[in-house]
Amino acid sequence: MKKILPTTVLCGIFFIGCGGGAPEPAAEASSKGASESALASQYDLANGKEIYDANCAGCHDEGILGSPKTGDVNGWTVRIEQGMETLISKSIEGYTAEYSMPARGGNDALTDEEVANSVAYMVEESSAK
Ligand code: HEC
Repeated sequence: MKKILPTTVLCGIFFIGCGGGAPEPAAEASSKGASESALASQYDLANGKEIYDANCAGCHDEGILGSPKTGDVNGWTVRIEQGMETLISKSIEGYTAEYSMPARGGNDALTDEEVANSVAYMVEESSAK
């Protein structure tokens, strides 16, 4: 305490000197926060994780059957560039490119919203942080 207190006081007095480096990292952090909360505000990521764990992880956790591995930022960047709408509709309908992604991950009981949430969860996990 004896050492910390005078420093705090000095920073209070010479505010500009102590805070000089702060604005830049703070601005960067808040702009990243904004893009993350954009997904979080549009989708239910907690529900997405549940749906993902039960329906998608079997392939996507380890990249089985040619699927893009969740968390592999490099592998996902070009996919994410297609935009959420495209990623979601391809996941709902299924598609075949180099490999095959089954419609709704093979579970017809999932609603469009649940698939969208799980896609959002995957994208969140696979985006550069
Ligand atoms: C049987 C394995 C399997 C399961 C289960 C599975 N996927 Fe996939 N998924 C794939 C494969 C394989 C690809 C890659 C196809 C390609 O691009 O060649 C893929 C690709 C994707 C992509 C990328 C689409 C794109 O345009 O690049 C998304 C998003 C995706 N899956 C979402 C999901 C979601 C959400 C679930 C669960 C609801 C799920 N997947 C379950 C195999 C699976």
